[in-house]
Amino acid sequence: KKKTNQALVIFGASGDLTYRKLIPAVFDLYMNDSLPEGYAVLGVSRTPFTNDKFRKKMKEGIRQFARYKDTTNEKLDGFLSKLFYLSIDTDKGEEYGRVKEKLDKLNKKFNLGQNYIFYLSTPPALYSTIPKYLYGHGLTIQQKGFRRLIIEKPFGHDLKSAVELNNQLLEFFDEDQIYRIDHYLGKETVQNLMVTRFANGIYEPLWNRNFIKHVEITAAESLGVEGRGGYYDGAGALRDMIQNHLLQVLSLIAMEPPAKITAEDIRYEKMKVFRSLRPFSKSDLKKNVIRGQYTEATVRGKHYKSYRDELNVDPQSRTETYAAMKIFIDNWRWEGVPFYIRSGKRLPTNVSEVVIHFRPSPQKLFKLEDESTHSDNQLILRIQPDEGILLKTGMKVPGNGYEVKSVNMDFHYSELNNHYIPSAYERLILDCMSGDNMLYMQGEAVEETWKFVQPILDYWENDEDAPLHGYPSGSWGPDVADDLIEGKESTWRYPC
Ligand code: BG6
Repeated sequence: KKKTNQALVIFGASGDLTYRKLIPAVFDLYMNDSLPEGYAVLGVSRTPFTNDKFRKKMKEGIRQFARYKDTTNEKLDGFLSKLFYLSIDTDKGEEYGRVKEKLDKLNKKFNLGQNYIFYLSTPPALYSTIPKYLYGHGLTIQQKGFRRLIIEKPFGHDLKSAVELNNQLLEFFDEDQIYRIDHYLGKETVQNLMVTRFANGIYEPLWNRNFIKHVEITAAESLGVEGRGGYYDGAGALRDMIQNHLLQVLSLIAMEPPAKITAEDIRYEKMKVFRSLRPFSKSDLKKNVIRGQYTEATVRGKHYKSYRDELNVDPQSRTETYAAMKIFIDNWRWEGVPFYIRSGKRLPTNVSEVVIHFRPSPQKLFKLEDESTHSDNQLILRIQPDEGILLKTGMKVPGNGYEVKSVNMDFHYSELNNHYIPSAYERLILDCMSGDNMLYMQGEAVEETWKFVQPILDYWENDEDAPLHGYPSGSWGPDVADDLIEGKESTWRYPC
């Protein structure tokens, strides 16, 4: 398919995301032959780089983070020759005239058809400023070519600011020009959640309150805040991971089958899930929501400092680095089925996964080989790492008698030969280039997820009795999180 010529304009081009993720992803697209014939990348930031200096820095980023590692210098230089840089003071409206001039030049040189994507990878304070000035210079209006805006998270800091930001953006762009990124949706395994459910006849009949006991969604990270204390201390796990990534995953697990695989139909079904989330009452907030913060610990000889001792973190910070909650979805399919969600930093391992816990068989006919285990069926959808799907099923222990043990039916993506799995950013940037916003978030949905988490934010901020539990670095978070799970024998899954 012939791709439309276009330019990608990255604001915040001297930042970390551009270096680690965006340019390496565009480079991988180039290596896959996915970029159009005529294209250019224009980096815009305050830092005074020359084109050469910018290219040199991006070359380092590519060498370190792109998937194509053993590229010849010739190929790499071919890519770098279409990277340009412009330093402006992004706070000053008049400076955007230079962006326009530069784009006019690139447009002529590479025959870009005046098609531009503006990617905001800047501090959130600039999210409404940049669109305003782009609009002021006529750069958001689609006449000859298309104009699209990609906007990174965090999209708002709470419900009020998210609504405000949506309203401001809509003054300068139409909704269908705005691409709100949630990189989890770009992950191959997250897209596969829908395929697992709706391309197989065997799961969907069981995918409801009659057969599913509860659902767990985990995003665990072993890293701490790693020098991002300045941002993270004002955010916390709820804003950083749950309001966006984990609620998006939840919506794909819980949604009804869409009429068709189109952005409109899928967004419609996801929106219904968000609208069905049961709002937290005062007593739910006390019982069903837990927050924690990592404390210092020595794990296998390595010392980890406490969150409060991290760079740019308030030494008395009450920001959560761990959050867990029990959520209900009030609709016909899910009434009474708890969804347990947790995310934290400095946990024992890196893993993101969804676990579907099926109800046990109605009669226990067989004895378990090991009574300390249980044989309930679980379907584990592993988002990362070691991407794959695992079904835990009971089988007869070979030999005399009828003892049962749980065994794994296990598929790993790594077993797929000859399949290139694109990174989340590759997929999402390519989708935006071709005008497909299916994997991007619509404004209304973002507001709905903020609406859901807002009572938790308020509770934590305003109620002095709202507990903040310390947990030692390298542990699975506060012990009280275990009490969230209903049922005597049930606990979180602790993957290693
Ligand atoms: C980002 C968060 O959105 O997602 C980070 O800001 C987090 O704090 C990251 O580490 C996790 O993404 P991934 O793709 O590594 O699971």
